[in-house]
Amino acid sequence: MIADRPMSEPGIEPSGVVAGVYVDSVSEEPNNDLVEPTAWRPRFVLSATRQIHMAMGREDLLKKVMVVTGGSRGIGAATARLGAARGYAVCVNYRQSEAAARSLVQEIVSGGGQAIAVAGDVGCEPDVVALFEEIDRALGPVTALVNNAGVLERQMRVEHMDAERLTRVLATNVTGSFLCAREAIRRMSTRHGGQGGAIVNLSSAASRLGSANEYVDYAAAKGAIDTFTIGLAREVAAEGIRVNAVRPGVIDTEIHAAGGEPGRVERVKASVPMQRGGEAEEVARSILWLLSEEASYSTGALLDISGGR
Ligand SMILES: NC(=O)c1ccc[n+]([C@@H]2O[C@H](COP(=O)([O-])OP(=O)(O)OC[C@H]3O[C@@H](n4cnc5c(N)ncnc54)[C@H](OP(=O)(O)O)[C@@H]3O)[C@@H](O)[C@H]2O)c1
Repeated sequence: MIADRPMSEPGIEPSGVVAGVYVDSVSEEPNNDLVEPTAWRPRFVLSATRQIHMAMGREDLLKKVMVVTGGSRGIGAATARLGAARGYAVCVNYRQSEAAARSLVQEIVSGGGQAIAVAGDVGCEPDVVALFEEIDRALGPVTALVNNAGVLERQMRVEHMDAERLTRVLATNVTGSFLCAREAIRRMSTRHGGQGGAIVNLSSAASRLGSANEYVDYAAAKGAIDTFTIGLAREVAAEGIRVNAVRPGVIDTEIHAAGGEPGRVERVKASVPMQRGGEAEEVARSILWLLSEEASYSTGALLDISGGR
């Protein structure tokens, strides 16, 4: 289903969706033997259900709900697509690319998956609150957050940057990641009656390299994401939540056009030890791994996906 109204339009209840219901991740059908599929089930009941399934070794039966911020294009879209293929119900958040978000949701639903598209600026607190409330209603509480929404601006030296630009870059890349993590923790943390979950933040190789003469502001914002990942991982580790980051190198997406150099991957690839740019899908696979039980002992990790750069 598509729930793509602007965040400012208060809620028409999405139809045909049962929030918080226990769902078999393979069949996507409610499992009536174990939990009644009522319209809303308090989280402590789901926690008890989780304990039963952990004891049975059947954690795979729990409903997996993923939100990908900035999921309409690039790495976010590849992650949403792969997440749906791996059994997640997916919320594709976007800021303005409505057609792209709708088309991705349609593709997932046509393939038998569950997805919604929700507009919202992650740097705007009311939008973030409304985003997570919409997911609660339409899909159930989030179990996986991908803090992917990110922006950079035209390449320039630091001496030409003004405060408005710095505010915009920090709002999406840093404030947005904090606000989305806050809303996710309120739903995932065992401290708040949740079932646990996982968060992956999109940092960048820029946090190590500094992006001199291009966008030091963006690189510094990603440095903040590295520190945020380490600190938050330690803060919530005992509450069932793992927090990791990926640090992509030069990936072939539209973000480079926003910097004023659509062909940047071609120019920079010679400096990459693997001699090529990366694909969005290569980053998405690493994100899905960090979210999965395969990475069950990884938290606070910063995973470079950069062809050796
Ligand atoms: N591509 C690379 O080389 C590279 C390298 C390292 C790290 N990264 C990081 O990877 C992430 C994804 O990058 P990408 O290359 O896939 O970028 P992209 O192709 O430019 O896509 C950016 C996505 O973020 C969304 N977005 C931007 N600002 C937003 C906001 N305030 N609120 C909600 N959504 C917002 C966009 O939505 P709309 O379409 O609606 O505007 C779009 O879906 C970013 O965090 C980026 O910094 C990318």
